[in-house]
Amino acid sequence: MSVLRCGCILQLLLLLLGHSLGAPRSFSVDYKNDCFRKDGESFRYISGSIHYSRIPRVYWKDRLLKMYMAGLNAIQTYIPWNYHEVSPGQYIFTGDRDVEYFLKLAHDIGLLVILRPGPYVCGEWDMGGLPAWLLNKKDIVLRSSDPDYIAAVDKWMGKLLPMMKPYLYQNGGPIITVQVENEYGSYFACDYNYLRHLTKLFRSYLGKEVVLFTTDGASVGYLKCGTIQDLYATVDFGPGGNVSAAFAAQRHAEPHGPLVNS
Ligand SMILES: *[C@@H]1O[C@H](CO)[C@@H](O)[C@H](O)[C@H]1NC(C)=O
Repeated sequence: MSVLRCGCILQLLLLLLGHSLGAPRSFSVDYKNDCFRKDGESFRYISGSIHYSRIPRVYWKDRLLKMYMAGLNAIQTYIPWNYHEVSPGQYIFTGDRDVEYFLKLAHDIGLLVILRPGPYVCGEWDMGGLPAWLLNKKDIVLRSSDPDYIAAVDKWMGKLLPMMKPYLYQNGGPIITVQVENEYGSYFACDYNYLRHLTKLFRSYLGKEVVLFTTDGASVGYLKCGTIQDLYATVDFGPGGNVSAAFAAQRHAEPHGPLVNS
């Protein structure tokens, strides 16, 4: 009897504890219902881009608050590699380059984060964020399986991604999805081994839970070289674009799951 009662109390305690800690945080693609799923609920984000690398740190909070007040529930931000690894192995993550602080601010304000760490980000930024020192090797083929390029990418991501991991939504942070490369389908190389390598690299540091995705121009031609298994394919288009045609292109690569204009 007393053993039973003890068991009941223990069970009650565990229940209460479980309740106060909440269900585990989750974020995933729901292929059955064509939506994202956050903590089990269907979820839609409306995001805006903000490049911390173009804004002095003292204004970050102000800008993020304004985005929140404008009705956004998520932000997207690029991480320009050459802004942080200024020369091989020399990293700067302080002051205006303190991306962790930027993520904390977004989190505190209540904004989710869509992280776009490249390694190539385009972003109307010098060399799309690729460090100029990569060109010290004269015949390097950027954004490909070129061994020297891959070695540099591995080193950089080995530094950056472990830093980002605690900020994943599953780990209590604001990052719901992570983009791999950027509009790779627009690049001449069309190197699937490169995309495969990046996928493995991102998974090895961030885990198998996180939603990894790609973004490409909204036509089947771009999606051809930009998409690969295990990376959720999305498209991008501006306000003048034909929405039906753009999403039809995304459906070509991704027959199920949420429609996303990145
Ligand atoms: C937009 O694309 C759809 C599907 O391809 C097409 O049927 C429609 O005519 C297009 N609309 C305009 C305004 O071009």
